[in-house]
Amino acid sequence: MILTNLKALNSRNLSSVAFRCYSSAAPKRPSALTDEIIRVDHAGELGADRIYAGQMAVLGNGPMGKTIAHMWEQEKEHRRKFEVLINQHRVRPTVMTPIWNIAGFALGAGSYN
Ligand SMILES: [Fe+2]
Repeated sequence: MILTNLKALNSRNLSSVAFRCYSSAAPKRPSALTDEIIRVDHAGELGADRIYAGQMAVLGNGPMGKTIAHMWEQEKEHRRKFEVLINQHRVRPTVMTPIWNIAGFALGAGSYN
């Protein structure tokens, strides 16, 4: 499909694509500080989402299940908002995302004591 689409592009279309990729119409990058704030907050919301996922895995059927599910839904919404911001401002997510994904779940699953 991609190869077919590339073959369909002639040199005029390619320069149009290049213009769109590098023109000032592209969303402006945030300042370094804003970039860092969005990245850190996104990581926090991702972690909260994964912690509640872990808690639900071990406590979801218990007396706290409904409360945890309610709190998890709130964190999912926070995460969704930061997913929008991270994409909208083209912020690089933390390099710790894969580890945080697993570690957050493990932290939540281990919090049943
Ligand atoms: Fe949150």
